[in-house]
Amino acid sequence: MNRIITLDEFIIKKQKDFDFASGELTGLLRDIGVAAKIVNREVNKAGLVNILGTEGEANASGDTVQKLDMYANDKLIDCLKNSGECCGIASEENEDFIPIPPVAGKDAKYVVVFDPLDGSSNIDVNVSVGTIFGIYRRKSKASGPCELQDFLQKGTDLVAAGYVLYGTSTILVYTTGRGVNGFTLDPTIGEFCLSHRDIKIPNRGNYYSVNQGYYLKFDVEMRRYIDHCSDMNLRMRYIGSMVSDIHRTLLQGGIFLYPNTRKYPKGKLRLLYECNPLAFIVEQAGGKAINTNLERIMEQDAHELHQRETIVIGSPEMVDEMKAFIERYSIPGYKVEG
Ligand code: AHG
Ligand code: MN
Ligand code: MN
Repeated sequence: MNRIITLDEFIIKKQKDFDFASGELTGLLRDIGVAAKIVNREVNKAGLVNILGTEGEANASGDTVQKLDMYANDKLIDCLKNSGECCGIASEENEDFIPIPPVAGKDAKYVVVFDPLDGSSNIDVNVSVGTIFGIYRRKSKASGPCELQDFLQKGTDLVAAGYVLYGTSTILVYTTGRGVNGFTLDPTIGEFCLSHRDIKIPNRGNYYSVNQGYYLKFDVEMRRYIDHCSDMNLRMRYIGSMVSDIHRTLLQGGIFLYPNTRKYPKGKLRLLYECNPLAFIVEQAGGKAINTNLERIMEQDAHELHQRETIVIGSPEMVDEMKAFIERYSIPGYKVEG
């Protein structure tokens, strides 16, 4: 039997790889690992909601039951406050960023962006959900509170990113820019254990992943590309929680698309805490991530916290092929009427 390597052990061993090897990022990643375990416990109890109390009601212990997105949000913030390495967070669940006061007078150098519960509409039907996070070094001076500019950085500025998938098993996948590793939670010992070392995305895969229900709302060239996927006998898989769809794509290859639609002319997914962290992971695994303007996701300018972006992400050959396809079929200035 191979020796078990826990997430904490792995992070500490890898600390020397970082440019700023002072242990701060190590502390932050560990805090996120702790939050993931707490969220995992609660996600696993979701089916018991009718027994334990519904949202807004008091549960058996007298606490008010929260929506799971808010619960996950609060736990992540609580855990990130612990180590004093994070000076602020920006979350899908909060309109504005939240500054975190220094712990024991120490200047924190990092900010964290996250989607606390991705795919949350799947919770009530026992389908996988996830958490996505990205970590940036702050740009504002370390002695004061964090500022908006600390969060509005490009994906290329990320120092670490990851996701947790609460699926048939719970797995935490992260990168610090030196490859991608996955850690499966062993519930019997309560530890994330290294299970997927140095993940590499296959060059091609058998799946395409898109909400085909919006087919008629896509631009004409995108419809043609989707027809092409079908012509190539690719299998369609769409879970409706991006983390789950990207995890499958990462391990088995394929392509995931969320293009612009009439309802979401700029795409639906959020650049800061959905697209960029997942693009960083997929690129680190050898894949590609672009938008429907065929520009690299990680090079997009961020103007606001909840900015939306279109995305095409996955196996490198398939993203390249999609790009060539769209270039060939694009009619300049032509868009499907909204
Ligand atoms: P969230 O639950 O954080 O709001 O994210 C849901 C996102 C993403 O996970 C998923 O890929 C997408 O929304 C699904 O959207 P459609 O139902 O429009 O396909
Ligand atoms: Mn989401
Ligand atoms: Mn969410």
